[in-house]
Amino acid sequence: MTNIRIAPSILAADLSRLGDEVRDVLDGGADYIHVDVMDGYFVPNLSFGIPIVTSLRKAFPEAFLDVHLMIKQPGRFVKAFVEEGASLITIHAEADDPAYIGLALNEIRAHGVRTCVSLRPKTSISALERWLDDLDMVLIMTVEPGFGGQSFMLDQLGKIQELRAAIEARGLNCDIEVDGGITAKTAPLAIEAGANVLVSGSAVFGRKDRRTAIEELRCR
Ligand code: DX5
Ligand code: ZN
Repeated sequence: MTNIRIAPSILAADLSRLGDEVRDVLDGGADYIHVDVMDGYFVPNLSFGIPIVTSLRKAFPEAFLDVHLMIKQPGRFVKAFVEEGASLITIHAEADDPAYIGLALNEIRAHGVRTCVSLRPKTSISALERWLDDLDMVLIMTVEPGFGGQSFMLDQLGKIQELRAAIEARGLNCDIEVDGGITAKTAPLAIEAGANVLVSGSAVFGRKDRRTAIEELRCR
């Protein structure tokens, strides 16, 4: 059976106690810590940025920091996120001209950090064509990016299946992450379609017992 990794999104954490919240999910078995960076321009919301990665890296030297950049022209900031300790950086296919997306991916890779490209619900997997062979992960958004607590878009399951088939046909070692509306109900659907990394904000941080919440998402 595929090894499912769980990435709690700190967007749903109590940010006044961020260190304790992150410690709690790591103790509860979280594989990654998902950091949602929003610029109020690529998405209609603002969240947090580079200093959060700096602080988390200092407090949790071993944690896998999965940084999801929902920002326009992400190439402007990848160096800073890399230097502050991101383990993996996701940029959106729609966030810039493809040539600049390619340059940003090269820069992330050159620093030994993992690369991921994300697709909004309306973007088809053909947008990945020129990068897929070299990516460590693809993030399929299962809500419109920008806010936590939205409902999972069932119409994205076909896209996950299509992507999993493409990855297998090419013999690639590329993870598929899903983000948005992942709960104990929707997680099995995403896994069945081919996802192996699950982001979850409210379904983990909205629960008291984070270990149980994480175990439920893993669907073992
Ligand atoms: C949405 C963010 C998500 C969000 C998920 O734009 O990318 O990571 O935190 O939140 P839930 O799991 O509550 O849908
Ligand atoms: Zn996210």
